Amino acid sequence: MKTPTAILICIIATTSYLATAATITVDAGHPSGKASPLFYGLMTEEINHSYDGGLYAELIQNRAFLDDANAPVHWSVVNDDGSAATLALDSSNSFNDKLTMSLRLSVTKAAKNHSAGVANDGYWGIPVKPHARYRASILARTESNFSGPVTVSIVSDDGHTVYATGKFSGLTTDWKKFEVTLKTGIAAPTAKARFVITLNQPGTVWFGMVSLFPPTWDNQPNGFRKDLMQMMVDLNPKFLRFPGGNYVEGDTIETRFDWKKTIGPVEERHGHPCPWGYRSTDGLGLLEFLKWCEDMKAEPVMAVYAGYSLKGMHVNPGPDLDPFVQDALDEIEYVTGGTNTRWGAQRVKDGHPASFKLDYVEIGNEDWFDKSGSYDARFAQFYDAIKAKYPRLKLISTIGNDQPKTNFVHSRNPDVTDEHYYRPDGEFIRMAPDYAKNYDRGGPEIFAGEWAAYETSFPPWDQQSQKEPPTPDLKAALGDAVFMAAMERNADLIKMNCYAPMFVNVNPGARQWRPDLIGYDTISAYGSPSYYAIQMFSRNLGDEILSTSSSETALQGCATRNSKTGEIFLKLVNPQATAEPLNIEINGVKTLASKASAITLAGNPDESNSITQPKKIIPIYTTIRHLKPNFAYTMPPHSIVVLKLKAH
Ligand code: AHR
Repeated sequence: MKTPTAILICIIATTSYLATAATITVDAGHPSGKASPLFYGLMTEEINHSYDGGLYAELIQNRAFLDDANAPVHWSVVNDDGSAATLALDSSNSFNDKLTMSLRLSVTKAAKNHSAGVANDGYWGIPVKPHARYRASILARTESNFSGPVTVSIVSDDGHTVYATGKFSGLTTDWKKFEVTLKTGIAAPTAKARFVITLNQPGTVWFGMVSLFPPTWDNQPNGFRKDLMQMMVDLNPKFLRFPGGNYVEGDTIETRFDWKKTIGPVEERHGHPCPWGYRSTDGLGLLEFLKWCEDMKAEPVMAVYAGYSLKGMHVNPGPDLDPFVQDALDEIEYVTGGTNTRWGAQRVKDGHPASFKLDYVEIGNEDWFDKSGSYDARFAQFYDAIKAKYPRLKLISTIGNDQPKTNFVHSRNPDVTDEHYYRPDGEFIRMAPDYAKNYDRGGPEIFAGEWAAYETSFPPWDQQSQKEPPTPDLKAALGDAVFMAAMERNADLIKMNCYAPMFVNVNPGARQWRPDLIGYDTISAYGSPSYYAIQMFSRNLGDEILSTSSSETALQGCATRNSKTGEIFLKLVNPQATAEPLNIEINGVKTLASKASAITLAGNPDESNSITQPKKIIPIYTTIRHLKPNFAYTMPPHSIVVLKLKAH
């Protein structure tokens, strides 16, 4: 197969040449390869409060009182005038052996018309939206002298406005679950609110778990935030890589993503420390990841824990590793197994009778960090066991061409290798024209499992990033776009790719990494310029790769075609501060429709979008006219353009 030609970066300083517009040629007569149906995907893990305080719509922070063994963080006493209440963590009165802590509320005095109780400040506030139904569910028990009622409300921070309220009673000395629906009326959206539980008479109540969900995507219980789901669906994702990233590995073997502890009723999930410095409730567990894929009509690309954790611990290949290999086999059975299998039956019990389609399993994450050199043997052990039971599954090695060849897996032939690219935008612009040019076309398929351009002088994990806006500017998006063009040119070999990280909660103290694709606070969300660049690429993708070539220009790009409709997608990136006139030649077509759509992302390269200005840099849709197979087009400065050309 012919290797697609990159549009060259090369500025030749001869006056006569600079005076002439560059020519971009698309060879539509001879497709150079098949584009991958798995472009583009999404990558996710618990980082930057992606799930708790993010996609997972739970509104109560520290809902099971396990975040801090010494204090009921995010909970505070409510003592209205003349009332008196105290709060304490209580490990001797726990709901079960998973929710090992409870919160004891003792009201000693409840004055008439004044209540006493406890309030939760949520994840940077409780979002109040007009005419919304919230589902509260509370595990509680009491002393014999009190049975209720208990009032639950969403109340403004200053205590003056009650946005929604409800009651339950019937408490006993045994643990019981109470459910209350709260409805807001006319209310301007605000996050300056708390969730408040009060008693209007003296009594003691223990809470095992307190949960509050707003309306969720598809109205699913234990579900997802609607706006974030919509933003992902709008990217037309083909797969979701989960659960990490570092999140699959954990800081220690003990704190890995231990999938069996993340399934079943949420009150059976203890949660665990995530490697990004906070505790995960595991409310978003394995089945929720799979449903998330299902909701987006995307395939799961599932990483299994492979015996390496971030603090440099590894499990020795051989008998020590066997239980972890068995866990991976069980996990695959949970995802794909029939109802007659042990773990398939567990999935049915958990509420999902149908099995999920699974083609790709990744063995670990970034195992080049394992300085013991054990990955080759660990990979082999997983590979042999998984292939013996699931021969058609494609297994991904976490060490790819971004690493020295000596680190590669040599003892087996991985079906796919995962490469990670976090690069300054300028580096992407330099490397993209030659990206994958010298890769062995007969080698394993390639998965660019994490990539992002950053525009700062320091890398994404540097503490200095905290001072920068959470999402990248247009300059970074230009770097992302040249890399996407390079991957599309090489999509005969690069079968999958996904930007990382996807999510960031922009509230102070919530994030560990920048840049991130989608930003949100408690109330709203926005896409970065990189988000829109990916959307432009992912929504305009054919199934054939067309070769492109050019005379001297700083522009980069790629072309693909939908073989059924004949539509050609020409994607061009101008990283320069000046506009560039072009001659575009579409060779190998009889005619070109005189009208075409152009989608343009352009603007000040130093600007990004934000919560307050979510649409500063967004794609503009226009029509261009009077086209022939050879036409003139001017690329705006600092721009990404997709031309949708109808050819016959
Ligand atoms: O995407 C952030 C982190 O970068 C991932 O968790 C890890 O795989 C990589 O180092």
